[in-house]
Amino acid sequence: MEKVIKKKIDEIIRVNHAGEYGAQRIYSGQIKFCKKDDLKKELKRIIKEEYEHYEFFNEEMINRRTRPTLLSPVWHYGGYFLGVFTSIIGEKYVHACTEAVEEVIVEHYEEQIKFLEQKGVENKLLKKIKKFRADEDDHRHFAENSNMRQSGVKLFKRFTRELTKFAIKVSKKY
Ligand SMILES: [Fe+2]
Ligand SMILES: [Fe+2]
Repeated sequence: MEKVIKKKIDEIIRVNHAGEYGAQRIYSGQIKFCKKDDLKKELKRIIKEEYEHYEFFNEEMINRRTRPTLLSPVWHYGGYFLGVFTSIIGEKYVHACTEAVEEVIVEHYEEQIKFLEQKGVENKLLKKIKKFRADEDDHRHFAENSNMRQSGVKLFKRFTRELTKFAIKVSKKY
């Protein structure tokens, strides 16, 4: 495989591994402090899929000998903090957080799908990312149904979007 493509694939594995780890940390913080049973049940259903996603990239990382991101502690504590924080300040923020994070992940997976399709490489990886993209889209829909018109919630959502984008950008390279 071309060196440039190999480098890009390494980036894909590294950033997805970090992102899926971050996602499970967010949901785990939310679950821990969630007081509503129906919401908790839904979050638990979602986190199960995040574990699956993470496991896949973790194995890929080992098999391909890709190094993990140096930002691991940031994803570990930052993700958990975001989860706990949103869970404590209220359900609206839990949904805003989910929507923001999942939206960015869906866009991000779509970019990767386009890249792999264009290059015609890594068919197995491509299929997995497509499947995960559909899962993330489903997580996003779950949040979308809730009421988030308040300006404070909107602002928080925008902030979380930018934060996620930034973390993704850095984790690709470092
Ligand atoms: Fe995921
Ligand atoms: Fe997700």
